[in-house]
Amino acid sequence: MRKIIFKILFSIILIGPYSKAQKYVPSSENLESREWFQNARFGLFVHWGVYSILGDGEWVMNNQNISISEYEKLPTFFNPIDYDPVEWVSMVKEAGMKYITITSRHHDGFSMFDTKMSDYNIVQSTPYGKDIIKLLAEECRKQGIKLFFYYSLLDWNRDDYFPRGRTGKGIAERGKGKWESYIKFMKGQIRELLTQYGEIGGIWFDGHWDQKEWDGTKFGDSKVDWHYDEIYGMIHELQPQALIGNNHHIGVISGEDFQMFEKDLPGENTTGYGTPEDQIGSLPLEVCETINGSWGFNLQDRKHKSNKELIHYLIRAAGYGSNFLLNVGPMPNGKIQLEHKASLKAIGKWLVKNGNTIYETRKGPFTPNENFVSTQKGNIIYLHVLNPELKILQMNKLPSQVKSVKIFNSKESLNFRNDRYGFIVDMGNNQLDPIDTIVEIQIK
Ligand code: GLC
Repeated sequence: MRKIIFKILFSIILIGPYSKAQKYVPSSENLESREWFQNARFGLFVHWGVYSILGDGEWVMNNQNISISEYEKLPTFFNPIDYDPVEWVSMVKEAGMKYITITSRHHDGFSMFDTKMSDYNIVQSTPYGKDIIKLLAEECRKQGIKLFFYYSLLDWNRDDYFPRGRTGKGIAERGKGKWESYIKFMKGQIRELLTQYGEIGGIWFDGHWDQKEWDGTKFGDSKVDWHYDEIYGMIHELQPQALIGNNHHIGVISGEDFQMFEKDLPGENTTGYGTPEDQIGSLPLEVCETINGSWGFNLQDRKHKSNKELIHYLIRAAGYGSNFLLNVGPMPNGKIQLEHKASLKAIGKWLVKNGNTIYETRKGPFTPNENFVSTQKGNIIYLHVLNPELKILQMNKLPSQVKSVKIFNSKESLNFRNDRYGFIVDMGNNQLDPIDTIVEIQIK
């Protein structure tokens, strides 16, 4: 009897907390996708909607307090006749990116895809009348690029997005409805996204934070039930390989397959909503950032990041073991700004030469800092020196034996020591690259 009681107690203590965390068991297809995702390292984020007409970002409805009936005029003259998915996907390939994540529906509530759940969509409510997502999905398939769908949980247009959240409070004409009907609507739309476009890369949720009160320092708990169990369950059932991520800025919720970070490298918190370090788990990571200062097209945004800044972001992300999802906001005609196309090209050029040190790598053994980060593939460590002024690099001692230390591009050998003083590399008289000098370290 005592033995049995012990056994029961033991299993409550040991298995109890585990059983909850282990409730979601990813399928083998899903695990394969995670591996692919981590190897891919670089993707394009696209924020595109009817808001692009106003050239003031994707939050314009909220920021300018545009009423529902005023905003609903936008689709009636949204006609992106220059939209060319072949051009987009070719641009993505040339940039060295492996996937695209596009907004299927943003907070304004307008669906950029063909949906039966509401006629507030690109096919039924615009003169353009075509499903841009379908056209993109077809081209992605042709060119071997994976497609993910961004999907907003928050909605400024629908009555049944009720209770309303923290945002959109100044938007006139918002009605009241039933939360359960909103959940039904979302489930219907997500089902469409998973059944109308062939195999997809995954779903990227956003807006969870709208239902959390902000007390000036931190968010409280979500006020509503998002029914994640059912929604995530449906996604995994319809497309087991599809990866789920949610931009909720908190730790992983059961059913999610990767963890994402917005405008902050994993563990950093310059934005104020960075995910705390202790909530970062072992799932694949992805950090998203804008190419200028805006997600959606913003006519007067002049904060275009330099090629160096963008390449550094990609390298740093990899050094943190994370993908980099770089955003562009196409113009209302369907074109992407020339300066952004030029930056993407420049990154692609850099990747042709140095991609081996980024793709298929995992984070390296050295803690990232201002001056350098490291990536690793098998027994090769790539040390990316981002500060061209450095002459001597000093790091913690490597536990494994070091076979050789070379400059990745020229293959020139460098002097090093790996002993109780640490792992130290002498860059010699080499003129360092203003963007990145890569040191290739072969270990046993
Ligand atoms: C924020 C914004 C949203 C944008 C997203 C991208 O959550 O609300 O506009 O889509 O970040 O990460």
